[in-house]
Amino acid sequence: MILPSPLPSLRTARLILRRPIPSDIADRLALGRDPEIYRNLGADPRKLAALTDEQAKAWVENIASHPAAWVIEHQGRAIGEILIDNFVEADRRAGLIIGILDPDALGKGLGTEAIRAVAEFCFDVLDLHKLSMRVLAFNTRAIRAYERVGFVREGLERESAFIAGNWHDDVIVGLLKRDFDALRGDPKPAGERVAAQLRS
Ligand SMILES: CC(C)(COP(=O)(O)OP(=O)(O)OC[C@H]1O[C@@H](n2cnc3c(N)ncnc32)[C@H](O)[C@@H]1OP(=O)(O)O)[C@@H](O)C(=O)NCCC(=O)NCCS
Repeated sequence: MILPSPLPSLRTARLILRRPIPSDIADRLALGRDPEIYRNLGADPRKLAALTDEQAKAWVENIASHPAAWVIEHQGRAIGEILIDNFVEADRRAGLIIGILDPDALGKGLGTEAIRAVAEFCFDVLDLHKLSMRVLAFNTRAIRAYERVGFVREGLERESAFIAGNWHDDVIVGLLKRDFDALRGDPKPAGERVAAQLRS
């Protein structure tokens, strides 16, 4: 599996998924650390310190140095990140991770939109067979968003996360290319839409 270099930007109706730019540092700093979002990411909300300039910079640098990570831009500013990881070339599968860090942007379909775009890129451009995600069982909004894209619950890892003094289960969800194709109902041959976007 060869990643296109540079990693292309992906456009959706309301988002641009793109590589970082310098102004993302200020955007990240302004987002701070919302307690509910951080709990859903596995942090103890009682122990959250204010985000520092250095941490905002490190967030952007981590995305820039990752070969398959995008900043999620909405209405002209960075609101989160999405990345593909844990490629297993022989099995043509990978993991997907997303974090929208703006509480005002949650529950508006933006996560679904970003995941669909990256799934399309993975299946049509990278020719992957399967994507997987790990999510805390109490994160019902995330699980619902993943199911909207076509992810199916495949398993439960019991008490895999210790958060704020309690054990929590992780849900594993998986998306096969054929699940995604069935839901998008796109009669075009695989690759045509994204390939057209990359050419434009
Ligand atoms: C997970 C995440 C990407 C989902 O994106 P989103 O834009 O918020 O979600 P969407 O609006 O696309 O879809 C959410 C679905 O859950 C439902 N939902 C919204 N808020 C909910 C809530 N508090 N509890 C349960 N379901 C909820 C919505 O109604 C929608 O389902 P529907 O279309 O059937 O009505 C985003 O919430 C996020 O990044 N959250 C913070 C970090 C995080 O949890 N990351 C995931 C770690 S695995």
